[in-house]
Amino acid sequence: MKRKLLSALLCASMAATLLVGCSGGAAAPAEPAAEPAKEEAPAEPAKEEAAPAADATQEAAPAADTAAAGGKKVGISMPTKDLQRWNQDGANMQSDFEAAGYEVDLQYASNDVQTQLSQVENMISGKCDVLIIAAIEGSSLGEALDMAKDAGIPVVAYDRLLMDSDAVSYYATFDNYMVGTVQGTYVKDTLDLDNAEGPFNIEFTAGDPGDNNAGFFFNGAYDVLKPYIEEGKLNVVSGQQTFTDCATPAWSTETAQQRAENILSSFYADGTKLDVWLCSNDSTALGVENALAANYNGDYPIITGQDCDIENTKNMIAGKQSMSVFKDTRTLASQVVKMVGQILNGETVEVNDTETYNNNVITVPSYLCEPVFADANNYKELLIDSGYYTEDQLK
Ligand code: BGC
Repeated sequence: MKRKLLSALLCASMAATLLVGCSGGAAAPAEPAAEPAKEEAPAEPAKEEAAPAADATQEAAPAADTAAAGGKKVGISMPTKDLQRWNQDGANMQSDFEAAGYEVDLQYASNDVQTQLSQVENMISGKCDVLIIAAIEGSSLGEALDMAKDAGIPVVAYDRLLMDSDAVSYYATFDNYMVGTVQGTYVKDTLDLDNAEGPFNIEFTAGDPGDNNAGFFFNGAYDVLKPYIEEGKLNVVSGQQTFTDCATPAWSTETAQQRAENILSSFYADGTKLDVWLCSNDSTALGVENALAANYNGDYPIITGQDCDIENTKNMIAGKQSMSVFKDTRTLASQVVKMVGQILNGETVEVNDTETYNNNVITVPSYLCEPVFADANNYKELLIDSGYYTEDQLK
C-alpha cells in the first residue's frame, strides 16, 4: 500500500519531469543500424536484441544542422554491445546524426580498453571532425585524447566522464548523483525509515570502479541511507558497505551474481531476512535477482536498478525488481547531436553544469539530463507509450 502511494507520488513528479525533458522532447527512436557497427575483439553475442521500438508517430530527429553538417564526420566510440543500453545509445546517435547530414563512424570495443584505444586512434587518423566517446575505463584513453587535441578534434565525453586529460571539450550525461538519490529515496520511503522501528537488513551492489559514474551512483544512494545505517535502523549484514567492497568490474551480471551468491550463502542461509538489495544499475540487479532465485527462500527484498533494460523491466512487471531509473537514451543522443552542431558551427554550446565534473585535470562543462523514476506502475507510460519498447519486447 505504502509502496503504491510512493510510486504514485514519484510517478506524478517524475512524469512531469519527463514532459519538461532535458532537450526539448525525445528524438525519434532509432532504427537498428542498417549495417551493424563493428565490434572487433571477440565478443560474446549481445544478450538482447536491444533496438528501441520504431514509432512512426514520433517526429524525426531535429535536423536543424543538416545544411551546416555538410558531410562532417562524427566518430562514435561505444564500450560494448554486451550491456543493453549502449546498443540503443549507438543506434540512436547514428540515426540522429545521419538524419542531420553527418557521416558516422560507430564502433563498439567489446569492453576491451586496447580495442577502444585503437578504434579511437583510427577515427582520428580517418579525419573525423568530432569524437564522441563512452569510455570503458575513464582514465585509459589519454594517448588517443592527446592525439585528438593535437589534431584539433573536439571530444565529447558521452555518459561517462573521460578522466585525467585536458583534451575533453564537453560532457553529456544524466545527473548521475541524482540516479543514486532516486534509488536511496525509494528505499527510505518504501521502508518508511523515519517512522518504522526496523531494523532492516540491506546489501549493496555497486558498479565498475573504472567508470566515474559508478561512484556518483553509489554515493547518491548511500548518502540518503547513511543516517539510518549509523543509527542502526539499517543493518548491512555482510558488513560490505564501501564502494570498493561492493564494486562490480565491468558491470558484469555474472560477477554481481557470484558475489550475491557468496553473501547469501555466508550470511542468509540461516533464514536471516533480507529486506533490501540496493543495486546501482540493472545489469548488476539482474545478477542479484538470479542469485536470489536460486539461493533465497524468503520474500523478495526491495531491489533497485537503473536503465530499464528489457530483462529488468520484465522482472519489475513480475514483481522481482522494485524499481529502476529510466535514462532515455533518445534524449541524450539528441542532446549530443545538438551539442556537436553547436561545437562545429562555433556557436555557444548549451551546458547546465560547470562545477560537478572535474576529471582530475579540468572541470568539464557538462549537460546533465534528468533521470526518471520507473516501476511497475508507470513503465507503460514511460516505455511503451513513448515508443521506447513495444509491448511484445516486454513479454
Ligand atoms: C551508465 C549506466 C549503465 C552502466 C553499465 C554507466 O556508465 O551510466 O546507465 O548501467 O554504465 O552499462
